[in-house]
Amino acid sequence: MKKYSDIDKLLIKSNDILDMLFNIKSLGRPYPADKIEESESMTKYNRKLVNNLMRVNHAGEVSAQGLYIGHAILAKTKDQKEMMLRMASEEKDHLEWCEKRIKELKGNTSIFNPVWFSGSIAIGMLSSISNDKNALGFIEETEKQVAEHLESHIKKLPKDDKKTYSILKKMKSDEEHHGETAHVNGATELSGNLKKIMETTANVMKFVSYKI
Ligand SMILES: [Fe+2]
Ligand SMILES: [Fe+2]
Repeated sequence: MKKYSDIDKLLIKSNDILDMLFNIKSLGRPYPADKIEESESMTKYNRKLVNNLMRVNHAGEVSAQGLYIGHAILAKTKDQKEMMLRMASEEKDHLEWCEKRIKELKGNTSIFNPVWFSGSIAIGMLSSISNDKNALGFIEETEKQVAEHLESHIKKLPKDDKKTYSILKKMKSDEEHHGETAHVNGATELSGNLKKIMETTANVMKFVSYKI
């Protein structure tokens, strides 16, 4: 069996991290709004409203990429790392769907996406430092908050915007599944204070990316 020097090991690890940072592939699942016609209720006002909502959701998916990559970098076992990368690929589908919807509406994504991405990698790594069960606890709570947030956006959509509705519904069901996956794999329950901090941090991102 080949023996690796410390330098070799360091190079392998950095290549591995670069691969995770830049090469997460989506699963390529079909765009949920593909066969749905644009509603006539999408006036200039409604397009702007939906674009603002989808800019927030797109920023959320950029953050999800960062979080899952951060978790994968510091995962303690191969199984945990693979689980994180699989969920990152599912989140990449969401990212592509949000981007496509924003393009259809001729809108724009958040200029702060690099900030959300890098900040989320740091948060993902921080919550994975101690052990995998704590990282799963963080994921379970994050996905719960994301699913609640998506439901609040579904309620804000113009009545006939079935395209955006179908995307958000599918994303919500995936996020609930991610939370369940974390739960059945032994997630530790987080403290109330930590949950509150996570909610406040997410609210800052939502507030800013709704505007710009
Ligand atoms: Fe997502
Ligand atoms: Fe998710």
